[in-house]
Amino acid sequence: MLIKRAADLRESDVTPKETFLRRREFLAVAGSTAVAVATNGLGPVFTATPTAAAQNPAAQKLANLKKSPFSTDEKLNSYKDITTYNNFYEFGLDKADPGKYAHTLKPKPWSVVVEGQCGKPGAYNIEDIMKWAPLEERIYRLRCVEAWSMVVPWVGYPLSEFLKRFEPTSKAKYVEFKTLVDTRQMPGQTEPALNWPYVEGLRMDEAMHPLTLLGLGLYGEVLPNQNGAPIRLVVPWKYGFKSIKSIVRVRFVETEPINTWKQQQSSEYGFFANVNPQVDHPRWTQGSERRLGEFFRRKTLMFNGYGDQVASLYAGMDLRKNY
Ligand code: MTE
Repeated sequence: MLIKRAADLRESDVTPKETFLRRREFLAVAGSTAVAVATNGLGPVFTATPTAAAQNPAAQKLANLKKSPFSTDEKLNSYKDITTYNNFYEFGLDKADPGKYAHTLKPKPWSVVVEGQCGKPGAYNIEDIMKWAPLEERIYRLRCVEAWSMVVPWVGYPLSEFLKRFEPTSKAKYVEFKTLVDTRQMPGQTEPALNWPYVEGLRMDEAMHPLTLLGLGLYGEVLPNQNGAPIRLVVPWKYGFKSIKSIVRVRFVETEPINTWKQQQSSEYGFFANVNPQVDHPRWTQGSERRLGEFFRRKTLMFNGYGDQVASLYAGMDLRKNY
């Protein structure tokens, strides 16, 4: 994200590798129909997309998933796209690194410590957390600050269902999340690429918003390690960096947390990080994006297309200053 200056960037750095390779394929077969698509009313079905189970037979299936009215019916990215093109700096800086190296992460046993301004602080284990609300499939667009995007069939439940169990007090204005620190499980933490642990935060109304998901799986299975096993955030109207992975600590606080990317470079990354095509990143445009697997760039939508649901959260705020 801030590792390379614009002048150092080659097209292959800002173009997902698969897109880059597929473009050559595309040029070779331009004009022919590439993918067969069907819709069953419950969401998109892509006959050319290999199933998750076919690619990861050992993965734990998640049954009885509710369908969500918040899901988009856009074409899903494949399991392969979603699990081999990742940002998870705890495993390296290259997009392929998490897929190659995250097998060292042990998502079981796992517990999450909850603390701060709430009535029920404590340590809660992942098996219990998974049962606290019915699991849903939510198909969301994910827009990375690096101007690529994908469509992911997440599994989880509303973050509000998780947070309200701890009875936040009236002093809880924000909630802060931290990722595991363990250099044996996350070897990339031996490098000072970021200040560890990775930290993120949401204002309480953002955290309690019905679109904000506690991510526990994707493609009908528990989360693959590289996507933030066993528990992460998914905040679809914000740049992907707000969707913190492999969470071990949740803290209700009175003041705005200093999130990792703001710590790193506050002139480029803010606390709100709402997707906003009108405010360019200082080193590249945010007006358009490359969807993984697509040839042409598409226009980026305000709030990543979720404006009808979330714009009111920011009424009266100057979103050029509060980026
Ligand atoms: N969480 C942690 N702990 N470490 C990270 O490096 N990267 C963020 C976010 N969460 C990151 C993280 C960024 S920049 C993005 S775009 C998304 O994870 C990517 O999620 P995905 O790999 O599941 O697509």
